[in-house]
Amino acid sequence: MPAVRASNLYKVFGKRAPKAVELLSDGRHRDEIRELDVTAAVIDVSFEVEPGEIFVVMGLSGSGKSTLIRMLNGLLPPTAGSVEVDGTNISALPKRALRTLRGEKISMVFQHFALFPHRTVLENAAYGLEVRGVPRAERHERARHALGLVGLEGWEDKVPQQLSGGMQQRVGLARALTADTDIILMDEAFSALDPLIRRDMQTQLLQLQAELGKTIIFITHDLNEAMRLGDRICVLRDGRVAQIGTAEEILSQPANDYVAQFTEDVDRTRVFTASSVMEPPIPVIDPGHGPRAALRTMRENQTVTAFVVHRDRRLVGVVREEAIGEAVRTGVKDLEGLVVADVERVHPDTAVADLFQQAALSPYPLAVVDDDERLVGVIPRVTLLAALAPGASEDEQAPEGADDLVAAAAPNGAARSEGADGSEGGQR
Ligand SMILES: Nc1ncnc2c1ncn2[C@@H]1O[C@H](COP(=O)(O)OP(=O)(O)OP(=O)(O)O)[C@@H](O)[C@H]1O
Ligand SMILES: [Mg+2]
Repeated sequence: MPAVRASNLYKVFGKRAPKAVELLSDGRHRDEIRELDVTAAVIDVSFEVEPGEIFVVMGLSGSGKSTLIRMLNGLLPPTAGSVEVDGTNISALPKRALRTLRGEKISMVFQHFALFPHRTVLENAAYGLEVRGVPRAERHERARHALGLVGLEGWEDKVPQQLSGGMQQRVGLARALTADTDIILMDEAFSALDPLIRRDMQTQLLQLQAELGKTIIFITHDLNEAMRLGDRICVLRDGRVAQIGTAEEILSQPANDYVAQFTEDVDRTRVFTASSVMEPPIPVIDPGHGPRAALRTMRENQTVTAFVVHRDRRLVGVVREEAIGEAVRTGVKDLEGLVVADVERVHPDTAVADLFQQAALSPYPLAVVDDDERLVGVIPRVTLLAALAPGASEDEQAPEGADDLVAAAAPNGAARSEGADGSEGGQR
């Protein structure tokens, strides 16, 4: 069961809202129904958020983000459509039940912190529990714990004014964590913060999420923030969903020109990971095979390098056709001794941006190995470059001179010559 499900949600402000919904559901743009004197803030929005997911809603100012999130926690009734939280249709709930559900299942973190200026940090963090009637000692204990989680230990007795913006936002986050709801809604929660502090907060949110497994719906108008945080991103345009997908899907397969334009300036090397650009390791060589068999395999696949892996795909190293050919000529029977064990290994989750230096240093494709040392893919240098092009897809060729660019991208411009002997052409 999804944690949150929005089904054909509409929010139209104004007297003639029902008529507006009718026209909008026929596909009219909100500007086309001006004569009704309504504001269509959210139009036919549907999505499901899985438990433990970070779902980001992204869109320009006025695209309907805040209106949408207020419907998700029942603060605003939808004009049409429904919101389900853990399978319960919240629009159908009586007021009191809705309030209980909000207290127990959903907390909200706002852009402007929404802290009580005369209460201490501890009391602010404990506020959600206070509303729920949790006894003072217990709520303070839980608030203390949450403040510890966000790095505010020792600040419990200060008042918000004595804290920096970033710290105040941590109090807001601690309040949500103290309430210990499964779902946290965050509306532009980091938008008022300085870039560096904002990045810190993003990192911390990702860490907390990994530890606590909360379901987070995060609103932002910042695409880079969306890409960094979101397991999936919902792009809103003028109240409607333009696209829902992972950052990679949105970058590599934008649903329309609007999304494509929107994503033009995104630093793709930070979004794409090794696993998204790697290629299948073909062929692989069994360490038990002799040079002759290895040579045959490589020739059949027209490669000049090949990775050597155990049956369970644990990586041993790499062999080169030259060396193998020589071994066959001189009657060497064993592959051992021909295998170069010292190959550059990267984790599947490594950002592409962090692959360039290793790629430039290595005469071989990068070996992508998982936590169990198993080879899951390979990344020839040209593949890295192909990943940078906007809208790049798998069948696109790397631009000419790609290797030079990769080498140039490496700090200190190291090791150009080593890689220039064509030894990695074999993976193409
Ligand atoms: N209570 C209201 N009454 C009338 N119109 C409203 C109301 N709340 C929002 N709107 C309108 O709905 C549209 C969407 O507003 P909303 O606040 O949801 O956008 P947003 O994406 O959150 O924008 P921002 O990034 O500026 O916060 C806007 O045109 C806004 O003026
Ligand atoms: Mg808003």
